[in-house]
Amino acid sequence: MTVAKMTILIAPLFASLVAAITTLSPLPFSAVALAKDGSLEPARQKEILYLLRQDCGSCHGMTLKGGLGSSLLPEVLKDKPSAFLVETIREGRQGTAMPPWKQFLTQQETEWLVETLKTGVKE
Ligand code: HEC
Repeated sequence: MTVAKMTILIAPLFASLVAAITTLSPLPFSAVALAKDGSLEPARQKEILYLLRQDCGSCHGMTLKGGLGSSLLPEVLKDKPSAFLVETIREGRQGTAMPPWKQFLTQQETEWLVETLKTGVKE
């Protein structure tokens, strides 16, 4: 049997498998969860704040006052351009311990996180 024939036979099977998995499983952590108005779903906002405490907190401090990483409190961030901070989070900062997070946070999620940090995390 040729590869092309096999692909024709397997493709529908594969498609139904994917469909079954996507209907059965809950949204994966990295899935973009947007509300109808295009803003982030509250559940996703909570996940990002959890990431902030657990992962970012290990360097920037649980209270974000700073540690190995600089303080992420509004006083420090509010006058820095948002695009620069978004870039820092998504790409990391070369030559420093700040790692890139673009695998875990979309552009929109990072923009939301930066605005949240600038105005202060309310929890
Ligand atoms: C392994 C340690 C580490 C982790 C984890 C980490 N950072 Fe950082 N981050 C740093 C360091 C160190 C710097 C300072 C880089 C420099 O010297 O310019 C920094 C800088 C930053 C800056 C720029 C601050 C400024 O005033 O310019 C932002 C914003 C930031 N981090 C956000 C985050 C977020 C959000 C996370 C989690 C998603 C995170 N960081 C996780 C170490 C870390």
